[in-house]
Amino acid sequence: MANKTLQVEDVSKLYRIGNASDLERQGSNRFLNMLQRPLTNYRKYRSLYRFTEAERSGTAESNDVLWALRNVSFSVEPGEVMALVGANGAGKSTLLKIISRITPPTMGRVTVRGRVSCLLEVGTGFHPELTGRENIYMNGTILGMRKREVDARFDDIVEFSGVGKFIDTPTKRFSSGMNVRLAFAVMAHLEPELLIVDEVLAVGDAEFQRKCLNTMSDVGKHGKTVLFVSHNMAAVTRLCTRGILIRDGEAVMDGSAADVVHAHLTHGSSEVAEREWADINEAPGDDAVRLRAVRVVSDSGAPIGAIESDKAIGLQMTYDVLEPGHVLSPYFTVVSDAGTDLFTTIDPDPAAGEVARKPGRYTSTAWVPANLLAEGSHYLRVVMRSVQAKHRPFTERDVVAFTVVDAEGGAASSWWEGKPSGIIKPQLEWGTEYVQPDMVIEG
Ligand SMILES: Nc1ncnc2c1ncn2[C@@H]1O[C@H](COP(=O)(O)OP(=O)(O)O)[C@@H](O)[C@H]1O
Ligand SMILES: [Mg+2]
Repeated sequence: MANKTLQVEDVSKLYRIGNASDLERQGSNRFLNMLQRPLTNYRKYRSLYRFTEAERSGTAESNDVLWALRNVSFSVEPGEVMALVGANGAGKSTLLKIISRITPPTMGRVTVRGRVSCLLEVGTGFHPELTGRENIYMNGTILGMRKREVDARFDDIVEFSGVGKFIDTPTKRFSSGMNVRLAFAVMAHLEPELLIVDEVLAVGDAEFQRKCLNTMSDVGKHGKTVLFVSHNMAAVTRLCTRGILIRDGEAVMDGSAADVVHAHLTHGSSEVAEREWADINEAPGDDAVRLRAVRVVSDSGAPIGAIESDKAIGLQMTYDVLEPGHVLSPYFTVVSDAGTDLFTTIDPDPAAGEVARKPGRYTSTAWVPANLLAEGSHYLRVVMRSVQAKHRPFTERDVVAFTVVDAEGGAASSWWEGKPSGIIKPQLEWGTEYVQPDMVIEG
């Protein structure tokens, strides 16, 4: 432990899923319920954390328990910016909650040296009745700071958060974006030894996300430790010095962030970019045509949410033509993270714009070539044109998002300035000729 910030030793977490959902189902009446049936509820609550030997050893018949984590061990040193990478439900948030002592491990041990501040997806840790100012001081106190220490950082926190003139308003009046901005500003400026950030950046706009990523990187450079979970694989690769891959509750890989992201993406278990409309009555469209599904697919045809820049990307839509006689021409627009339309693509086959489609289901796929898009998030706009009627049965904006990640060892890795600028990154043919030897420039 000598110079470690964090040590996780053989941590396992067993959840009781039956009872958890019971409690969840009671929803907002939970509190009332607790008052009315205190003993039953207390027992139920206790049972969430009590397991039989058989359940612990995995020999129990019961299937109402779930191992969210199994024998996870690692340690983190000062200055490391570490990512936990894994599919939805892998156990990342559970691990972060155990490290921040929100929930206890069923087995194993976590040791943290110094102050921990955490920003988890579940909530920002603010008291809604307190003003922004009061919450800043309260959080400082929780972290063991003196008023003087918080005073010294107060202006920086407010400025970073951008909530300036609302600082004396109770935070329950804040939008979720404002809450997250202020919470992040507090967490980052109160100088914890260990900063934990789980998914929350998705709420902020692109500019704020950039600010947060820079701040986390600075925290690492100042010898503090960061644990970071994000679906933004580009941010993970760029920001983190190390990654741990979590698969079904187990730490299956510990290596450079780039290697771990690569393993995650190529395993095929990453997030998928897919939207489906199961109920045709709710599907976008009209009496002639309805949109049923939109997907981003890899070259094998599998839906994929994050893809390496050296792979082709399939943009796919499935639609039902319900009436005969319509000339229907679908198209896609790929939109950058910052909201700029990068390009629009329409089926170049003349038939697509001239021939009526007979009723039935269609799937159209447009292939974006490898090595065209730049690293980062992209959004898809899906449009159907009804050519003779000169109208659009549907226009769906930001239907799905997908992330492009620079292929490992790609050209960008040799860029000592960081990321090459530009919103696309086509691979161009280059040629350099030695034209003549005697070009002497005389002064
Ligand atoms: N309070 C809970 N009770 C029961 N099961 C839970 C609870 N919290 C999480 N789980 C389950 O534990 C597993 C890991 O969840 P989580 O840590 O949230 O994953 P991740 O953050 O990687 O998406 C999932 O199967 C999830 O359904
Ligand atoms: Mg999570």
